[in-house]
Amino acid sequence: MKKIVIASSGASGAGLAQKVLTHLPSSIEIHYIQTKHTQTVMQKEQNITLHVNENIAASIASGSFGVDAMMITPCSMNTLAKIACGIADNLVTRAASVMIKEQKKLLLAPRELPFSAIALENMHKLSSIGVIIAPPVLGYYSKQQSLDEMEDFIIGKWFDLLGIENNLYKRWEG
Ligand SMILES: Cc1cc2nc3c(=O)[nH]c(=O)nc-3n(C[C@H](O)[C@H](O)[C@H](O)COP(=O)(O)O)c2cc1C
Repeated sequence: MKKIVIASSGASGAGLAQKVLTHLPSSIEIHYIQTKHTQTVMQKEQNITLHVNENIAASIASGSFGVDAMMITPCSMNTLAKIACGIADNLVTRAASVMIKEQKKLLLAPRELPFSAIALENMHKLSSIGVIIAPPVLGYYSKQQSLDEMEDFIIGKWFDLLGIENNLYKRWEG
């Protein structure tokens, strides 16, 4: 993988996106978008280009730029609904719609509890066209001892889904 888009929308848990950025291999060109509802600001010593969500003319708004994968974490129910309806009114939703039309990997980490029937319908619709729906669900089989380890487990699973090599959690060996 050469280029990835990471986006955060206004759901709880934006800190997880910060960890994702930290753990991504430096060989991958990272484009990061925040919606105005996300508080965190990230400038790490990595190959990261920060995009403003209002900039619909950014490189990643075009399929010709050649992004390999996109992850939205956390993904609000608002952003989920827009993507499911084909709305592309900001850079996050536009870049996501580009991933869908170009048949590239798009991973959404919806964060809500519980999920409404509307949100579940939107997830089902997107899942049926190949979008990866991977909410930050806790797992215990790796015997995580702390929140930090639990987050690494979730991020490791996300990276597995996108084909990004990682050693972030202890794999089940039977
Ligand atoms: C403190 C706080 C926490 C929120 N947590 C969530 C959440 O976990 N999931 C969600 O779907 N919306 C959550 N919201 C509501 C979204 O921020 C709101 O729907 C917003 O319009 C999303 O816009 P965006 O999708 O453009 O980021 C939260 C709002 C606040 C103020």
